Amino acid sequence: MLNKIGVIGGGFIGGVLVQEIARRRLAREVGLSDPAPFVNPDDSEERQETSRKQSVAKGKCLDIAEGLPTIRSDVRLVGSKDYSALAGADLIINTAGVPRKARPDGTFPSREELLSINLKVTSSVADGIKAECPDAIIISVANPLDAIVYTLDQRLTPPKNKLMGMAGVLDSGRYCYFVAEAANVSVENVSAMVLGGHGDTMVPVRSSCLVGGIPVTKFLDEETLLAIETRTRKAGGEVVGLLGFGSAFASPAWSALEMAEAIIFDKRKIIPVCAKLEGEYGVDGAFVGVPAIIGKNGVEQIIELDLTDNEKEAFAKSIAAVRKTCGEVDEMLG
Ligand code: LAC
Repeated sequence: MLNKIGVIGGGFIGGVLVQEIARRRLAREVGLSDPAPFVNPDDSEERQETSRKQSVAKGKCLDIAEGLPTIRSDVRLVGSKDYSALAGADLIINTAGVPRKARPDGTFPSREELLSINLKVTSSVADGIKAECPDAIIISVANPLDAIVYTLDQRLTPPKNKLMGMAGVLDSGRYCYFVAEAANVSVENVSAMVLGGHGDTMVPVRSSCLVGGIPVTKFLDEETLLAIETRTRKAGGEVVGLLGFGSAFASPAWSALEMAEAIIFDKRKIIPVCAKLEGEYGVDGAFVGVPAIIGKNGVEQIIELDLTDNEKEAFAKSIAAVRKTCGEVDEMLG
């Protein structure tokens, strides 16, 4: 159990995170920070006064706290509109930013199109972390994933082991789920990794996909596997299109907690995470999804896989796409 976990952003993912941290008793205290609802200067003074008193973070914390006796959990919950609820956190999970949302015609933006708005949010998040919990390990979930992690690195310059992004667990979970469904076996039997950036260029690594320890090609034909890999790359968008109001939240929250539990319980578990490459995979200075040993210090060690030639090529393309978005970050931050 940690002393304190801070969750930034009280939206759908943040809400599931706080519930699960309380239910799984992962920390003595959870701090939730979210500025909503904003005070709109164009509103009447009366309406502004009401918005000032309201707080999504405080409301969610109180709601969950009032359920704690029922689930018999003694976690302490604090919410704030500023970053003060994060004070002294050992671990931060950052979900702050707007999610993708379907347009009225059913189409939806790419994760990269969220960059300019979420970059502003991330600059503020970095200031909040610096002020309230500068030594915390950070798991970032906000999109565009790899570019937001890169931005946090630029703003906070934390040790390499202390900053990572959550994407690989989610993307790999989607890949495994589709394989389990097609092979008609338990999801517990399937393991696989999706690497690279958390965008449409992500790389489902077929050579890592095992069903009950046996290569997936023994169970599924080429055509089925290609269809599954294409669906995996676009799986986030599939949920956005169906939901209409936003993006996936239960599976991303559980995925971030998979990483958090590996840290909290010092599991030294091999998990695909977005981590800083400094020469690994022949890449320097980029944040992309790679397998790593996750333990009490965060990213304990990056594991270099022997990829097939096709996988290497796809991985290089994915890194190029991530670098392009990070270049836009550099331009926007000046
Ligand atoms: C997704 C978002 C959370 O992939 O990036 O669903």
